[in-house]
Amino acid sequence: MKKELKVQLDGILENQGLARAVAAAYASQADPTVEELTEIKTAVSEAFSNAAIHGYKGEGGPVKMEFGFTSADTLMIKVIDKGTGIENIAVAMEPLFTTDTGPERSGMGFTVMESFMDKLKVDSKPGEGTTVTMIKKLDTYYEL
Ligand SMILES: Nc1ncnc2c1ncn2[C@@H]1O[C@H](COP(=O)(O)OP(=O)(O)O)[C@@H](O)[C@H]1O
Ligand SMILES: [Mg+2]
Repeated sequence: MKKELKVQLDGILENQGLARAVAAAYASQADPTVEELTEIKTAVSEAFSNAAIHGYKGEGGPVKMEFGFTSADTLMIKVIDKGTGIENIAVAMEPLFTTDTGPERSGMGFTVMESFMDKLKVDSKPGEGTTVTMIKKLDTYYEL
């Protein structure tokens, strides 16, 4: 893993813009296309808001975001919370599945992450928290 960056933000929705901005700033080092950058920001945004809303239920626990390049053109991003965790990961990842009853949640967060990134892995344990690992291969060649 090259050029690692680790940051920790309070898991509150007010920080969603900051989470997007950090992801954009990091990914920009690899000279991504505007489309790739939008996809990365959106995927990180979904993972971060999940940590804040579902993981910490608005209590604002710490969300870690880790960035790195696994190879010259491949970006790896982890979004980590130590919140509630997920009972059934496979079910949670199904399109339209949500445990939230409010009008805000579409149940499409994981689906968006999956479609915008090349690989999505979710590790989670009830009571221990959730780690979302996303990998994206960029079009542009990045000189390490
Ligand atoms: N970090 C997390 N901590 C706990 N539960 C989560 C987390 N991320 C996702 N989930 C669970 O997975 C479900 C689906 O997530 P998602 O696809 O983003 O839809 P939505 O956020 O609209 O509910 C959530 O409703 C929640 O139950
Ligand atoms: Mg979501």
